[in-house]
Amino acid sequence: MSKLLSPVELGDLKLANRVVMAPMTRSRATADHVPTDIMVDYYAQRASAGLIVAEGTATSAVGTGYCRTPGIYSEEQIAAWAKVTQAVHAAGGKIVLQLMHVGRVATHYNKPEGAETVAPSPVQAEIKLFTDSQGMVAPDVPRELSTAEVQSVIDEHVTAAQNARRAGFDGVELHCTSGYLPMQFMASGSNQRSDQYGGSVENRVRFPAEIISAMAQAIGAGRVGYRMRLGNPFNDIKDEDPVATAVALMKAVSHLDLAYLHMMNPHKPGLDVFELAKEHANTQLILNDSFDLSQAKAAMENGVGSAVSFGRYFIANPDLVSRFANDHVLADFDKSNVYTPGPAGYTDYPAFS
Ligand SMILES: Cc1cc2nc3c(=O)[nH]c(=O)nc-3n(C[C@H](O)[C@H](O)[C@H](O)COP(=O)(O)O)c2cc1C
Repeated sequence: MSKLLSPVELGDLKLANRVVMAPMTRSRATADHVPTDIMVDYYAQRASAGLIVAEGTATSAVGTGYCRTPGIYSEEQIAAWAKVTQAVHAAGGKIVLQLMHVGRVATHYNKPEGAETVAPSPVQAEIKLFTDSQGMVAPDVPRELSTAEVQSVIDEHVTAAQNARRAGFDGVELHCTSGYLPMQFMASGSNQRSDQYGGSVENRVRFPAEIISAMAQAIGAGRVGYRMRLGNPFNDIKDEDPVATAVALMKAVSHLDLAYLHMMNPHKPGLDVFELAKEHANTQLILNDSFDLSQAKAAMENGVGSAVSFGRYFIANPDLVSRFANDHVLADFDKSNVYTPGPAGYTDYPAFS
């Protein structure tokens, strides 16, 4: 049997195999950011993954910004997520929740009434966001968080992690890439602060490092992971030295005994991010981005990391693990309904037959 299909322990998470489902925003929650019953079916169908990292989920109403993405800040959301985790556990799977505060990547058209858009500094992202009511729009100009408010946002993440545990998740993953709030703090272009959360690279990584540390204290370090993609320019991120920034965050949390670092490969010539993570992160690695089966098998055999995550393959192949095990052909997904409401292109991809 290939090592890819063998069990592994990441902190307190005991995985039956090393095929992880990567977090994917699918916009199937309600307009009020509450998970729906089709999400229960979708995740249960994919429960044979060694671990599911459920889609980026808002830690507060202020942390929302996309349409129909879920949150984990209300009792209604917690109850709805509990149905998902019960179904995944009943099918023998493990599931953690990705916590995602979008910061300035937000428009009030997609947010609950009165929820502001905030960021480390009042720098508007040069992007467009989809809304159900207006089509594509510019994001809001964010309001700068005060130093005291930064502490409240950290506390919100702790509550969100505790809510995730109450909803039955096996753990949480902090989204530290793709231009969302942690990365807005880490990158020199979007962080122009002069307090202890801005300026030097050690100061810029302080926000995600304090969140990770506080969540580890609250729910146990062995149930906390974080995700990075070094130098990711997505959502208008500019950073003067992405390698130094990534290493600074790894070092700042390396003493915590975390479950894992979910490391995405930016495929930059001359840069081996997995080696970099091994050198500085002091935790097990879930590897990601554009792996196929043979590359994933080789990475496991060669000890590059402890598991490999797959995103796009899981959209159209709910039984990906069994298809890998049996060398079955993989189905392609329909790009037209990746983010549309309803079950089409979501729960209607069949298992191999
Ligand atoms: C539809 C879609 C939604 C995604 N949403 C998220 C997300 O919520 N959080 C995140 O960290 N990455 C997200 N990603 C990135 C994936 O987790 C993954 O890194 C990417 O698809 C590359 O892996 P792959 O080559 O196996 O598809 C998304 C990707 C896709 C295709």
